[in-house]
Amino acid sequence: MSSMIISGGRRLSGSVCVHGAKNAVLPILAATLLTKNISVIKNCPNLSDVRHTIEILEFLGAKVSRKGDTLTIDTQNADGTHIPDSLMLKMRSSVIFMGAILARNGCAKISAPGGCELGPRPIDLHIKALKELGASIKEKHGYIMCSAKKLTGNTIYLKFPSVGATENVMLAASLASGETIISNAAKEPEICDLAEFLNAMGANVSGAGSSEIRIIGKNELSGSTHSVLPDRIVAATYLCCAASTGSEILVNGIIPEQISSAVSILRDMGCDIKAEKNSVYISAPKVLIAPEEIKTMPYPGFPTDVQSQFLSVLAKAKGTSIITENIFESRFRHTEELNKMGANITLAGRSAIVKGVPALWGAKVSAHDLRGAASLIIAALSAEGETEIKNIDYLDRGYEDFMENLNNLGACIKRIY
Ligand code: EPZ
Repeated sequence: MSSMIISGGRRLSGSVCVHGAKNAVLPILAATLLTKNISVIKNCPNLSDVRHTIEILEFLGAKVSRKGDTLTIDTQNADGTHIPDSLMLKMRSSVIFMGAILARNGCAKISAPGGCELGPRPIDLHIKALKELGASIKEKHGYIMCSAKKLTGNTIYLKFPSVGATENVMLAASLASGETIISNAAKEPEICDLAEFLNAMGANVSGAGSSEIRIIGKNELSGSTHSVLPDRIVAATYLCCAASTGSEILVNGIIPEQISSAVSILRDMGCDIKAEKNSVYISAPKVLIAPEEIKTMPYPGFPTDVQSQFLSVLAKAKGTSIITENIFESRFRHTEELNKMGANITLAGRSAIVKGVPALWGAKVSAHDLRGAASLIIAALSAEGETEIKNIDYLDRGYEDFMENLNNLGACIKRIY
């Protein structure tokens, strides 16, 4: 694991362009298994989670080549049905392959997924939904064995609008016989991007972005070309970098309405923010006003994936804020690291109480997960003095060229491998 050394207290300026969305690319890559033709995925970021997903596709028999930000995937011989532990445990989203492998081959064997330390990462909703589509599923010795001669459409009610479970059902149902209705479906923009790719492959998916998605199964799908939507979480993270350092920056290549909940809070905190068609300009004051309360919610509510980053912004705001994490059980592991930098954060159940302090101080801290790593960078940018962040490799799961882009904006960051 490598480290980052950040000299804080510098203002940022300039513009940054945001890469394709990690959380859209991963299910779209799984969707390429639903055809034996060639698919082309553009605006595909070069992230460790994407590289791990490509490893899984290749292990299953696919041929994948990359030219810049474009991937070409040939799944003609991708008839593998088993994903080994070594690949499954590298990231949570590997579970998304279950539906696609099952739909293509009639059977799938995977181990319980790995992922960030965000608390228990159950997949009960995935399993229940696939069973309702006719799969028989056995779990033993840490493996999940699924089989189904032919999946059959059904009405699937998700007791929680799980992003991954919604995606798994969309993938499996696309080759099932008959119609599937997903009720209480996740509404994240990444779901819409997956639906767009599936329909371009010849699937029949409607209602993506609403809480009811209908899929009429097809016998086969063809390859297609798709350009991945921009990463709204990365966009919001750059805005947090500006907010925490009293900076003015332009964030390009994004869809502003997809981060409206985060933008609205930053405006309430005193930032001047102008949204254009594909960009957001932010000018932050030296001292921010603490919002009383922030609660993470499923889309279009405040995204859990920017909760960690906002904690670092709140740490120096004037006043006290309560931020409540309603999506994951434990997504506050980095608060103890922020407190080492002088923050005043106390945890109470699913909430963190942040009493703003006049300054943060550089310290030696450690990252524990992807967004926690980004959060520590944001705190280090605004801190007095030098911060060393250990285990920064987590950042590579979801941010491409983050250090280079921040240095181009005026930051002073070094990476020690
Ligand atoms: C996706 O994870 C994202 N990952 C996460 O982003 C994101 O935080 C999350 O959706 C919520 O928006 C990818 O898309 C690769 P969920 P996912 O299923 O699908 C519980 C990041 O930082 N749950 O919506 O795993 C679960 O434990 C990552 O980019 C069950 O109980 O999220 C969690 O508490 C982190 N049973 C909640 O639902 C299940 O079967 C939300 O999970 C599935 C989920």
